[in-house]
Amino acid sequence: MRFLIFGDVVGAPGRAAVSAALPALREEFSPDSVIINIENIAHGSGISPATMQEALAWRADAYTSGDHAWDNKKGLPLLSDPHIPLIRPANYPTGVPGRGYLTYTSGAWRVAVINLQGQVFFKNDPDNPFHALDRLLEMEDIRQADMILVDFHSEATSEARAFGWHADGRVSAVWGTHTHVPTADAQVLPGGTGYISDAGMQGAHHSVIGASRALVQSFLTQLKMKFDVEENGPLEVNAVVIDVDPRSGHATDIQQVRRVFARD
Ligand SMILES: [Fe+2]
Ligand SMILES: [Fe+2]
Repeated sequence: MRFLIFGDVVGAPGRAAVSAALPALREEFSPDSVIINIENIAHGSGISPATMQEALAWRADAYTSGDHAWDNKKGLPLLSDPHIPLIRPANYPTGVPGRGYLTYTSGAWRVAVINLQGQVFFKNDPDNPFHALDRLLEMEDIRQADMILVDFHSEATSEARAFGWHADGRVSAVWGTHTHVPTADAQVLPGGTGYISDAGMQGAHHSVIGASRALVQSFLTQLKMKFDVEENGPLEVNAVVIDVDPRSGHATDIQQVRRVFARD
């Protein structure tokens, strides 16, 4: 079974990039299932009802997110809507809107998708994601899945790689999101887990992780600046294609996809 998995969609350029590239990527790779991280889909921060509708038109089986999942207040009900296949990191306290995993069927196979957030270099302090994974893998509906996939939303590549080893052999795939920069370390770990530290973003190619280059000022002055989405210039799309043998639940291949193109 083949999964096509995208990292963070950043604002309108990110939405335009996915809408432009997805049909051709579906044609090229023939994925059985598509998963997309949409934590930055609304103006670079959170998920709004209108941008969720746009994302649903992509017909992904699961939409993952991260620390920005709750930023758009109008979008909060989306996180708890049982009809929308949207998840947020599982390792947040009880009572926080949303759910940390979902399951779906693809053909004859059951798939579970888990979202977890790292702890290193975040301003908040979610539960330890390593222990959280151990607990999630004990849950009945996740145990029954033929394939378990994890969006690990983290800043530090060291934490992501350690998490990959922690998960190796117990899940089909772990891909990083959050940094918006694709890493060149896609590999199938020895236990059979397809892994990459960060899949990378969908958004403006001439940008600072999707934001306007005006953000340079923030580094020159040490003053905080708003994350203004870069609206102009070429687009980039970053994803991974992961092949999994559904009988064993083990990944057999992972390949990176990166496309840079002018917008129409
Ligand atoms: Fe992000
Ligand atoms: Fe994030």
